[in-house]
Parts: sequence; structure tokens; C-alpha cells
Amino acid sequence: MISRMFRGDFLFAITLLFLSAIVAALPRSQTDHRQLIARGKYLVERVAMCGDCHTPMNHKGEPVANRWLRGSVIGFKPIHPIPDWADKAPDIAGLPKGWGPAEMERFLETGLNPKGHHADPPMPAYRLSVGDARSVTAYLLSLK
Ligand code: HEC
Repeated sequence: MISRMFRGDFLFAITLLFLSAIVAALPRSQTDHRQLIARGKYLVERVAMCGDCHTPMNHKGEPVANRWLRGSVIGFKPIHPIPDWADKAPDIAGLPKGWGPAEMERFLETGLNPKGHHADPPMPAYRLSVGDARSVTAYLLSLK
């Protein structure tokens, strides 16, 4: 009788522990994800300046807010010709068409696209850290 009661208490305690571990983990992962997106936004807007090429500009040279990272014509040319110069930057809000997060992260870490090639200039071949590539990818995905 005593041992049965003890077993009941024990199971109850284990269940409580298990549930509180789940509850503790849930909000943390949401906060982690929000922090990842915030860091990605900072890297895109303040460090890598992706919007300079991937966002169309208005006549004052300011980025058009509702076209943020939606793709743009490149408004400048090199003084000396550079082979394979691209005159358009694609829509990257929500990731380019057909790309998943793994392809985007690899591209940002190595400069290699899903075909195993570098993008044409003036697209920089970034060599971001794994964490920074994850952050930028999470931010771009959040713009879907
Ligand atoms: C100096 C201008 C410039 C900047 C800054 C820039 N891009 Fe680009 N990006 C381009 C151009 C131009 C292309 C098209 C290249 C091509 O056609 O191969 C491109 C292509 C891409 C592609 C598609 C690549 C492919 O091979 O299909 C992705 C993804 C991309 N850029 C992401 C980014 C991200 C993310 C940032 C910031 C971290 C960024 N770009 C910053 C100009 C730029």
C-alpha cells in the first residue's frame, strides 16, 4: 500500500518534471528564433548592405520600402569592363525561387549557388560564419 502510493507520487513528480521541461523549452526556442531574425536583419541592413543592389531605388536614390529586397536593376557599371557583369539582382525576399534554407546558407558560407557556381559580379562571394549565414537566411525567410 505504501509502496503503491510512493510509486504514484514518483510518477506524478516525473510527469511534472517532464512537462515543466517542455514548457521551459518552448518560449526559449521562440526567443532564439526571434534573435536569429534580428541578427540577420542587422547583417543584411547594416553590414552586408544587400538592399543596395537587391532593392529598387526611387528618383532620390532611396530604397523603395515596399519593394525591399524584391529584386532590382543594377544602377551602376564598372569603369573598366568586367566579364559577366550582371545588370539585375534577383528577388531574395523569402529566398530566391527554388532555393531552400540549406542552399541559401551554403551560398552565404561559400559563395557557391545550388549549381556549384559563383554568382556573377557585382554579387559578392560572401564567406559568412555558419551562425551568420543561418541568421541572414532566417531573416530573408521571414520576409515571405
Ligand atoms: C553589390 C551589389 C550586391 C550586393 C551588395 C548583394 N548582391 Fe546579391 N546579387 C547581386 C547581383 C547583381 C546578382 C545577380 C548575379 C547573377 O546573375 O549571377 C545577385 C544574386 C544574388 C543571389 C542569387 C545567386 C545565384 O547564383 O543565383 C542571391 C541569393 C543573393 N544575391 C543574395 C544576396 C544577399 C543575401 C546579399 C547580402 C548578404 C546580397 N546578395 C548582396 C548583387 C548584389
